[in-house]
Amino acid sequence: MTDPLNHIKFAGRTTSARPVAARQRTRLAGTLALPKVGAARLPAPACPEHHRRACPECYRRACPEHHRRAGAGSGSAPSSPFVSWVLGQAGLDAATYRAEPLERRLPACLRALRVHSEAQARTLIEEQPGLVPAAVSALLIGVTDFFRDAPVFEALRSEILPELASRRRPLRVWSASCSNGAELYSMAILLAEAGLIEGSHLLGSDCRTDAVEAAQAALYTTHELRNIAPSNRERYFDNLNGRWSPVQQLRRCVNWKVADLGRHFEAGPWDVILWRNMAIYLMPEVAASVWQCLVSVLAPSGVLVTGQAERPPARLPLTCVKRCVYRLSDNGAARLPAPG
Ligand SMILES: C[S@@+](CC[C@H](N)C(=O)[O-])C[C@H]1O[C@@H](n2cnc3c(N)ncnc32)[C@H](O)[C@@H]1O
Repeated sequence: MTDPLNHIKFAGRTTSARPVAARQRTRLAGTLALPKVGAARLPAPACPEHHRRACPECYRRACPEHHRRAGAGSGSAPSSPFVSWVLGQAGLDAATYRAEPLERRLPACLRALRVHSEAQARTLIEEQPGLVPAAVSALLIGVTDFFRDAPVFEALRSEILPELASRRRPLRVWSASCSNGAELYSMAILLAEAGLIEGSHLLGSDCRTDAVEAAQAALYTTHELRNIAPSNRERYFDNLNGRWSPVQQLRRCVNWKVADLGRHFEAGPWDVILWRNMAIYLMPEVAASVWQCLVSVLAPSGVLVTGQAERPPARLPLTCVKRCVYRLSDNGAARLPAPG
C-alpha cells in the first residue's frame, strides 16, 4: 500500500519525506526532544507546575492539574483492534489519539466501507489496500471551514498580520492539520487583502491523503464559500463549472504535504502556525509534545493560533495576545523547557 509518509506533495510534485524529516531532526536535536508517536517512544513530559523534572504521574495521566492546563482533554487509547490496525496501515499510531472520538466514528467508517463488522472491514481492506485513505478519513474528523471562528481571523487581519509584517516580510504561514485547505486559503486571502501575498510562503499539511488531494484540487462549492463576501469571492475565486477555484495569485503561494504531525515537523521559522481543532483529539501528553515542537519552529514574535477549545501548556514561552492567538515571548525559544 501507499505509505503517505513517504510521499510529500509540493505544489503538485511528489518527493520523499524522509530526508527532510531527518534534516529537521538533526536541526532540532539541540533544542528539544521531538515527539515520537506511541507511548513507548514518547519522552515523559516535564511538569514544571508540580515537579522540576519529568513527572511520571503526568505521564500516566494521573495529574489532573497538569492536564487541565495542557487543555487537551483526557482519554484513553482506542480499544478497537480494527481502529488501531487501520490507522497503522496509514502510518498513524492509534495510541496518540483519544479513544472516544475515534470509537464514535467507527460506525461511519464501517458505513463508508459498506460492511457490517470490524472483521469484514479488515478483510476488505486487506484485499483492497487502496481503501485505507477512505477508512482513515471516516475515522479522523476533518471538519473545517473558510474563516472558521471569524473573530480570530479578524484579529489576524486587523492586528497580528500588520504587526508581523512591520517586522519582516515576506511571511511564512503553516496550517498544521489543514484538512481540505479552507483554513490556509483563508490566510492567503487575508495576506492578499493586506498586499502581503507576493513572495509569502504558505504550507498546509495533513495526515490524510484524501484531505491533501482535496486541498490540491481546490474546488469548493458555493456553500463552502458562504463565509466569504461575494465581492471577495469574485476577486479571489474563479468559477469552474459551478465550483470555485482560488485564483493563481493565491495558488502559486501555497504548498501541500501529506505528513503526520506526530512524526514530521516543518523546519521554521514560521511567522504564523495554525494548529486548530486537532489537539482536542490527541492524548494530552502527545498534544503537549506537539505544542512544544510547534513553539520551537516559531519565528521570533511568531504566533501560534489554536482552536476555541484548545490551550497550549502554561509552561511554554507564549503570551496570549488575543483569544486563540499566542505570541512567542521575547527570547522564548531559548526558554523552552528541557526535554523530559
Ligand atoms: C477537525 S480538522 C481541523 C482542520 C482545520 N485545522 C480547522 O480547524 O478547520 C482536524 C484535522 O487534523 C488532521 N489530523 C489528525 N491527525 C493528524 C496527524 N497525526 N497529523 C496531521 N494531521 C492530522 C485530520 O486529518 C483533520 O484534517
